Amino acid sequence: MAIYPLFLAPMAELSHRALRELIECFGGCDEYWTEMISAGALTSGGQFEQWYRDAGPRPEKTVFQLCGAKPEQLVKAAVLLNTLPCAGIDINMGCCAPAITRTGAGIQWMRDSERAAGLIAQVRAVVSCRLSVKIRLGFTEDFDCLLRFCKRLEAAGLDLITLHPRTAQEKLKRRARWDYVYQLASCMQVPVVGNGDIAEPNDCMRREAEGRCYALMIGRGAVRKPWFFAQLKGTAPLSVDLEETALLFLAFLARYQPEPFHYSRACRFFTLFCDNLRWAHYLKQLLYKERTLCGMEAVLRRYFYEHEEEKLWRLS
Ligand SMILES: Cc1cc2nc3c(=O)[nH]c(=O)nc-3n(C[C@H](O)[C@H](O)[C@H](O)COP(=O)(O)O)c2cc1C
Repeated sequence: MAIYPLFLAPMAELSHRALRELIECFGGCDEYWTEMISAGALTSGGQFEQWYRDAGPRPEKTVFQLCGAKPEQLVKAAVLLNTLPCAGIDINMGCCAPAITRTGAGIQWMRDSERAAGLIAQVRAVVSCRLSVKIRLGFTEDFDCLLRFCKRLEAAGLDLITLHPRTAQEKLKRRARWDYVYQLASCMQVPVVGNGDIAEPNDCMRREAEGRCYALMIGRGAVRKPWFFAQLKGTAPLSVDLEETALLFLAFLARYQPEPFHYSRACRFFTLFCDNLRWAHYLKQLLYKERTLCGMEAVLRRYFYEHEEEKLWRLS
């Protein structure tokens, strides 16, 4: 059973209210981090910002993650989010998707510790809630360089760091190197959260046995199995009805996300969730062809009608 606090990772198009509602149905986790929120869009009143700002159903456990390249926008966005109930504000300094790095955001902040520390000091001065950054190893594997960066941010007023121990180039390839998490945690005053490749209960046990950090953050594993946190806490039901869970997710998506987001968010979710099923590839192709949630619901109902033996996931 997990000893450390368990956090849901920020994931674009995945870590939104519908997923949080679903995870809550199984007992929830200790913190929910939102998908990255564009500071520019938030401060210029983007069309969909109310959905990104929705910290339900547990605002007190929800951390808003901001993404941006311009300090003035990030500061303005942090001021705005600081007026809402939340567990903290995080700044994305680890994303290496080209669409983000091209703008100077995400992991580009790790190129210049002085500039990054300047940003943290400015945001610190205007927000009262917990302030954190989520980073990667950087552009190369160099612990001293990583430590200097983190120490500089700590001195600027940071409260917590999450490390996803892969380099920028690796994206999600190679295994996450948790040695770096433990090493960083042992050198920092502020808490260090570890993230990467926790997909099975054994991964969690191993992380806790091998070294120390403040909390474990889980991304894809919690989308594949929205009951994963409950499983790690020893409170999961003995079996989960996969059809009911999939349909519940669609219902939450319809209720808590705007219509133009439905298709992309449903596809992202089912890309991972369908891995619980024998004919995952086939089912994903059928779902991707549907453009509406009603169409997806019909596909799911038909699949489980034809493959009744697949309905239940059993705790082994
Ligand atoms: C689809 C997807 C979207 C992601 N979006 C974000 C994001 O918005 N902000 C962020 O800091 N990391 C993002 N990440 C990285 C995750 O937070 C996490 O670091 C990574 O998935 C490794 O953890 P895992 O092995 O538990 O999934 C994303 C990852 C995926 C797969």
